[in-house]
Amino acid sequence: MFKIVRKEELAEDIKLMEIDAPLIAKKAKPGQFIIFRSHDKGERIPLTIADFDRKRGTITIVFQEVGKTTEELGTFDEGDSILDFVGPLGKPSDHDRKEEGKVICIAGGVGTAVIFTELRNIKEHGNYTITIQGSRCKSLLFWTDRMKHFSDEYIITTDDGSLGIKGFVSQPLEDILKKQAESIAYILAIGPVPMMAACVKVAKNYNVKAYVSLNTIMVDGTGMCGSCRITVGDKSMFACVDGPEFDGWYVDWKELAQRNNRYLPAEKQSLERYRELVKGKNR
Ligand SMILES: Cc1cc2nc3c(=O)[nH]c(=O)nc-3n(C[C@H](O)[C@H](O)[C@H](O)COP(=O)(O)OP(=O)(O)OC[C@H]3O[C@@H](n4cnc5c(N)ncnc54)[C@H](O)[C@@H]3O)c2cc1C
Ligand code: FES
Repeated sequence: MFKIVRKEELAEDIKLMEIDAPLIAKKAKPGQFIIFRSHDKGERIPLTIADFDRKRGTITIVFQEVGKTTEELGTFDEGDSILDFVGPLGKPSDHDRKEEGKVICIAGGVGTAVIFTELRNIKEHGNYTITIQGSRCKSLLFWTDRMKHFSDEYIITTDDGSLGIKGFVSQPLEDILKKQAESIAYILAIGPVPMMAACVKVAKNYNVKAYVSLNTIMVDGTGMCGSCRITVGDKSMFACVDGPEFDGWYVDWKELAQRNNRYLPAEKQSLERYRELVKGKNR
């Protein structure tokens, strides 16, 4: 069992949990993830290692309540325990190895939690970092101070204009690349699939390398079930073991979007059933 030692509400429907998991904390690297199952009837889902503390022996996860399993996890409190918590899974990102110059990190929505350890690593390895952090509205933004702390330049966007530049993250990206594409080593974009696809398209137009972290549907997380299969260039790959980070220029975005939507009716039904069950218990 893995104990929740801290719980925090970061933004609307976005929660942080620090989990006691010393063996995972010892090995965790930026870009990796865990798969958890909160109880024996629960579904397994992947979440990024949003931070790790080797001394305390803890792993931080940040999740957005979008469906049955994340909504149920949100009801767990400090002191409660999660049944299974497996990791670190996936390949660590490459960005901890070198100084490459100017890097643009783009975070969309809960992608902020996914990109954070990578941004920190990129900055700590001597790179100049330009961060663009975007969300639908002001109330969904979190960790702005942390992101700013590791950024030489920092830009906020919101779709509704409630904070920062009004519109999508891809606009300031285009503005920057228009002026100085030759000086950018690469971009790293993490967030919803359409956002990553849009950023990659802009970067490709300016001939700038674009890395992304793919949030496919995963089951085992060890390369055996095939659920997370994607096409990159002319190769079939598994996001869980070959990624989750890939060269965005070569990802088949259309196929990824289609495969991510393949259980939509079942996911909707599962959430409705769960909410009915909770309502029944509270009556
Ligand atoms: C490697 C990896 C790391 C991830 N890290 C994080 C993280 O740090 N924080 C976080 O909040 N989420 C993260 N995700 C996504 C997270 O796993 C899903 O949101 C979760 O599985 C949803 O489960 P659910 O039962 O609550 O909702 P479901 O019932 O499975 O889904 C509800 C709705 O949410 C959307 N959705 C579901 N799965 C995904 C997905 N994989 N990507 C995009 N939209 C989806 C769909 O619209 C779906 O209908 C990550 C995914 C991967 C593959
Ligand atoms: S999650 Fe099963 S192969 Fe990747």
